[in-house]
Amino acid sequence: KKPLRVSVIGGGNWGTTIAKVVSESALEYPTLFDINVRWWVHEEDIVYKGENHPAKISYILNNFHENVKYLPGVRLPDNLHATGNMLEAIEDCDILVFNVPHQFLGSIIDTHITPILKEKSQQLGREASFRGDLVARHCIAISCLKGFHINLEDPKNLQIQLLSDFIDNKLNIPTGSLSGANLASEVAKENFSETTISFPPRYVTDKDHVSVKCNSIAHPHDPKILKTLFHRPYFHVRVIDDVAGVSVAGALKNIVALACGFVKGLGWGDNAAAAIQRIGLQEITKFGIKYFPASKMETYYVESAGVADLITTCNGGRNVKVGKRYAEMFLEGNRDINIGDLEKEVLNGQSAQGIITSEEVNQWLQFKNETNEFPLFSCVYKCLFEKADLTEIPSMLDTE
Ligand code: 13P
Repeated sequence: KKPLRVSVIGGGNWGTTIAKVVSESALEYPTLFDINVRWWVHEEDIVYKGENHPAKISYILNNFHENVKYLPGVRLPDNLHATGNMLEAIEDCDILVFNVPHQFLGSIIDTHITPILKEKSQQLGREASFRGDLVARHCIAISCLKGFHINLEDPKNLQIQLLSDFIDNKLNIPTGSLSGANLASEVAKENFSETTISFPPRYVTDKDHVSVKCNSIAHPHDPKILKTLFHRPYFHVRVIDDVAGVSVAGALKNIVALACGFVKGLGWGDNAAAAIQRIGLQEITKFGIKYFPASKMETYYVESAGVADLITTCNGGRNVKVGKRYAEMFLEGNRDINIGDLEKEVLNGQSAQGIITSEEVNQWLQFKNETNEFPLFSCVYKCLFEKADLTEIPSMLDTE
């Protein structure tokens, strides 16, 4: 059997970290995985330490093995090959990992994948399909993205979609998700952490694949393969089958972390932060069970993607940093803070996914006429986008 080819899309902080993780596993299991892991990064010109001239980020990654912009100080494996060319990055791959800020997902597919498929269609004289004509026919995808897709096509019938389903719908590829208590910089330093991977069970018995399904470990649909690819001595993986629960928890905890940042910036201490996290967990679970009824309660309460990720993100993530700075500026008397500008200033080009997720969730709850059912999510939205008074947070949460 040919070893499975792994490709990663995304070279930000978390994308780089996950690319490092899977490259280490590819080196360790050369009979299972092709040793060369291909990696699509958004090309930009940057200056490497001590150099005089800017160079393409892919050149820097391949020659200096360090992502100086998004993950400085971490040596990347030599078997990880960066490119700005999508065809080079994903052609014939068996496992495709998506790890980009979620607001760019649609445009990355439209700008970098759709044109390749169009060209293939012309060559073939029929409509090319993503699986089979571009990536391997049995290829699977794993989404490490955090957020939702709100389908606005029919405003009277708004739909909220998991990003794994969005990928599956756009590219017709079975897509699972990976999420957990994983601050990228700590995983990159190889400090111990856990993560949760979920894969839709229906694909394991997909009729197209039934003959090869699970007969051998070297088939990408075998959950054991996912564990082998992502599990490291410092990064422990549990594979479950609740894609919805893992994705919902991963997305919503970022909103809660913004609120935690607010109370930290206001100087309200640990009790306030704990209260925010408790209410947050309650709303995450309620939202998940209500709008994604396939998700399981235990994922929210027991898995790394659930409560553990909530705790870590509320302690030290990017969302909490932005929320904290927002509140500090508010206390300094600044009542006209543009959250997008603040995000750029605090995170140096990275993004805090809770901001856009807060807008998506609010849009959905407005549509369902249920904002009152989720006081914390609504409070974060009001603070960020409607200039609500942050000192009113306790009364906004006092709804019982
Ligand atoms: P950030 O707040 O740094 O984006 O971290 C979120 C996260 O997913 C941690 O597990």
